[in-house]
Amino acid sequence: MQRAERLRLGVLTGGGDCPGLNAVIRAVVTTALVEYGWEVLGILDGFEGLLADNRTRQLTEADVRDILPRGGTILGTTNRSNPFRCPVQRDGSIVYVDRSQEVAQRVRDLGLDCLIVIGGDGTLAIARDLQPLGVNVVGVPKTIDNDVAATDVTFGFDTALHVATDAIDRLHTTAESHHRVMVLELMGRTVGWIALHAGLAGGAHVILIPEIPFRMEKVREAVARRDAAGAHFSIVVVAEGASPVGGLDQPERRAQDAAGFRLDLRRIGNWVATEVSRGTAREARCTVLGHLQRGGSPSPFDRILGTRFGAAAVRLVAEGRFGQMVALRGGEITAVTLAEACGVLKSVPPDGELVRTARGLGISFGD
Ligand code: F6P
Repeated sequence: MQRAERLRLGVLTGGGDCPGLNAVIRAVVTTALVEYGWEVLGILDGFEGLLADNRTRQLTEADVRDILPRGGTILGTTNRSNPFRCPVQRDGSIVYVDRSQEVAQRVRDLGLDCLIVIGGDGTLAIARDLQPLGVNVVGVPKTIDNDVAATDVTFGFDTALHVATDAIDRLHTTAESHHRVMVLELMGRTVGWIALHAGLAGGAHVILIPEIPFRMEKVREAVARRDAAGAHFSIVVVAEGASPVGGLDQPERRAQDAAGFRLDLRRIGNWVATEVSRGTAREARCTVLGHLQRGGSPSPFDRILGTRFGAAAVRLVAEGRFGQMVALRGGEITAVTLAEACGVLKSVPPDGELVRTARGLGISFGD
C-alpha cells in the first residue's frame, strides 16, 4: 500500500552521535522530497526539540547537500533526554516528571504524519512508547557499540573499528620500541564488539571484554609467556565495560547513573595497566581512546548503510508500516517491530566463532 497524499515527516537523532547519522538524514530528506514529494521537518537535539518552542527546522535538499562525509549530526542530539522521565528541580531535589503527552501534542501541532527516530536502544524505546500515544514512528538503529540484536550491524561500528584498529597499529610502535605493555581502552558500553573486532584486526595479544570476566594473574601470565618467548612487548585491548571476576571492589565503580551504567567512573584501562605491572619491572601505559571512536568522517560502509536505512525508513512510512524499525539481516534491508527490537541487546557469544578463532591464534581473554 503506497501513500499518495503529501505527507509531512519529522526526523530526529537521539543518543550519542555516531558516524553515518548525516547519511541517514540526507537519505530521508532526499527520498521524501524527491521520490515522494513530501515535506521533512528536522527536530533539533533529539526529543528536547519537541519539548521546547522553535526547535525545529524545515529541511530542504540544499540543507543535506554535502553532508555525507560529515561526522556527528546536523540536527544535534542528546543522550540525557527522555520525555517519559524529565528531571525537574523541586524543593531542592530532583524529581522526574512524565512529559510524553506534551511531545505527542507537539507532534500533532506540527502536523507531522510520522516521526523518523534515529537512535540507539534508549531512543528507540522512547519511540516505541510514543506510538500508543498516537504518534506514528519509524525507527532507524544507530550505535558504534553494535549491540542492537535485531540488526546484524549498525552504522558507526565500522568507522569506530577503523579508528580503534589504527590506534592499535600506532601503539605497536611504542610497545615494541620501549618493551612495554600498551593497554588500549575502547568503548562499547556493556558489550565487547569493538574491542574484539579491533583486537583481532590490530593483532592484540590480550583482549578483555565484558562477556568474559578476567583474572589479572592470567593477563600477567599471557604477557610473561610472550616475554619468555622473546617478545618483550604486549598489546592489551580492554573494552570499557570489562571487569575482573567478582567485579572491581571500589565504591565509585559501583556508582550508577539513572541509565544504570556510569562509564566515566570505571577507568578499567588504567586499572589494568597498573595491575599488569604489579610485582614486576614491566612498564605499562594506558590509552583511553574515548570519543575519537565516534568522531570524524564515516567509512564508506557506514555511509552506504546509513543511506540504505534512511531510504528504507521513508519507504516504511509510504507503506504505512509504523512502529517498525529498519534492520540489516543477511545483507538485506528488512524491518522489525520496535516492540521486538527494543531492550534486546546483542553481546559477544563467549563460545562463538570469533572468540574461538582468537583463542586459536594465542590471544588471551584473561580467563
Ligand atoms: O553508546 C555509544 C557510546 O559511545 C558508548 O560506547 C559509550 O559508553 C557512551 O556512548 C559514552 O557516552 P557519552 O558521550 O555520554 O560519554
